[in-house]
Amino acid sequence: MKRVAILISGGGSNMAALADSMTGDHPARPVLVLSNDPAAAGLEKARARGIATAAVDHRGFGGDRAAFEAELLKPLEAAAPDIVCLAGFMRVLTAAFVARFEGRMLNIHPSLLPRYRGLNTHARAIAAGDREAGCTVHEVTAALDDGPILGQARVPILPGDTAETLAARVREMEHRLYPAVLRRFAAGDRTPVWLS
Ligand code: GAR
Repeated sequence: MKRVAILISGGGSNMAALADSMTGDHPARPVLVLSNDPAAAGLEKARARGIATAAVDHRGFGGDRAAFEAELLKPLEAAAPDIVCLAGFMRVLTAAFVARFEGRMLNIHPSLLPRYRGLNTHARAIAAGDREAGCTVHEVTAALDDGPILGQARVPILPGDTAETLAARVREMEHRLYPAVLRRFAAGDRTPVWLS
């Protein structure tokens, strides 16, 4: 069984989708949900599922990323994860942290990468007049929202869409895509998953 740690910052809907998928003949199990925000609603969702949780408040470190990450590493290393899933984790990680989990850290990003790295992806896609949007699961490398693509799901952008309505449509696909990618990845298969 592969051990999976999931890093969150907020509601944790992707974390819940991942955790709920890891049952039966799935090759992995969730061992830790870790947040940079002790008030993240996702922590309660993890506890309700019987998953161990930890939080390290990044605001205590005055912008010192290395010091924050040193604290983050304590519960993370103690959980001995084989795979680390970033699921709405909104802190940029240093190259040193990323290197420690090279080849076994995944992220979900709410755009069709390589388009719209960074924030406000849905508003940017609508403003650009795009006809479709989506989400991407990729391996995490030192460059932000970059790294080998392990899966992508597409949705239409409809007339009248706002960032919120589009985000909701994409989110439903995130909850299908991330578990599908994790299942393959945990089985040692990096063939990308394409959903539409
Ligand atoms: C998701 O839409 C995820 O794609 C996005 O944050 C949301 C988290 O929702 N991630 C990023 O923007 C990463 N830069 P959740 O907490 O309900 O899973």
